[in-house]
Amino acid sequence: MRSLIDILDLSTQEIDELLATAQDIILNPQKYSEKCRGKKLATLFFEPSTRTRLSFEAAMYELGGNVLGFSEAASSSASKGESVADTVRVVSCYADIIAMRHPKEGAPLVASMYASVPIINAGDGGHNHPTQTLTDLLTIKREKGKFDHLTIGLCGDLKFGRTVHSLIGALSRYHNIKFILISPDELKIPDYIRNDILIKKAIPFEETSSLEEAMPQLDILYMTRVQRERFFNEADYIRLKDSYILNPEKLRSAKKDMCILHPLPRVNEITTAVDDDPRACYFRQALNGKYVRMALILKLLEVK
Ligand code: NCD
Repeated sequence: MRSLIDILDLSTQEIDELLATAQDIILNPQKYSEKCRGKKLATLFFEPSTRTRLSFEAAMYELGGNVLGFSEAASSSASKGESVADTVRVVSCYADIIAMRHPKEGAPLVASMYASVPIINAGDGGHNHPTQTLTDLLTIKREKGKFDHLTIGLCGDLKFGRTVHSLIGALSRYHNIKFILISPDELKIPDYIRNDILIKKAIPFEETSSLEEAMPQLDILYMTRVQRERFFNEADYIRLKDSYILNPEKLRSAKKDMCILHPLPRVNEITTAVDDDPRACYFRQALNGKYVRMALILKLLEVK
């Protein structure tokens, strides 16, 4: 039985297979509409979510399966003091697979040690978000057709932004990738990403605070929200929240085929005037999330 806790749990070959399945689902949805008949997905969300939870649920419904779960810790027995270990032991009796989001880093890993069904990490604190990375990879594949020879700008909250951490891990396994890490000083990527991935694997990267300077080089610009809920004090959040605001003017120096990604939700970091630019891929990206999650559920449930 496999779980997905970290994107590096999957080999690049397995990722290729998942993306190929997702692309086949896009072309032939009816072929998949009964694949999970009689199976149940539990979504245990101890933290807010729109896209991740609903795309998981839509994914299971489109596979012919059913969904149960909760969308806030307050409505679960966590509010009575139940441990994650006990919760997933019990939910394993009711569901065939579990997608879990939790504010504590490592909670889905703990869950996978106690559950008797596969656990999918749907975001753990400021740590990882592997299914968002699968979403991002499918989007890059569909928009750019490749994962190598790309310069990727990651902009915003690189410290607490879990989607960024997982995406760096995933892309660092391809050839001729360069990262430009654009953030205020206070929100730079954590040392464990810088040292254990970028430096260890000799991946070229630059750190800068200037989006304008980075812009002309980028093939992909991955914007992120400043993660308010991870800040210790509101004053720091207020000071940093509008560090980067992407607007049509700033895009003038960008490549004509640059791809703008954002895991969403956006707050102020991309103005709505950018939405009509053909380079804005973030709503297509959100749709891709459903297809990769369908492919992932099939893989972890070992449905042929
Ligand atoms: C992201 C998350 O939850 O980490 N959202 C998502 O899953 N699409 C990004 C964010 O909340 O800023």
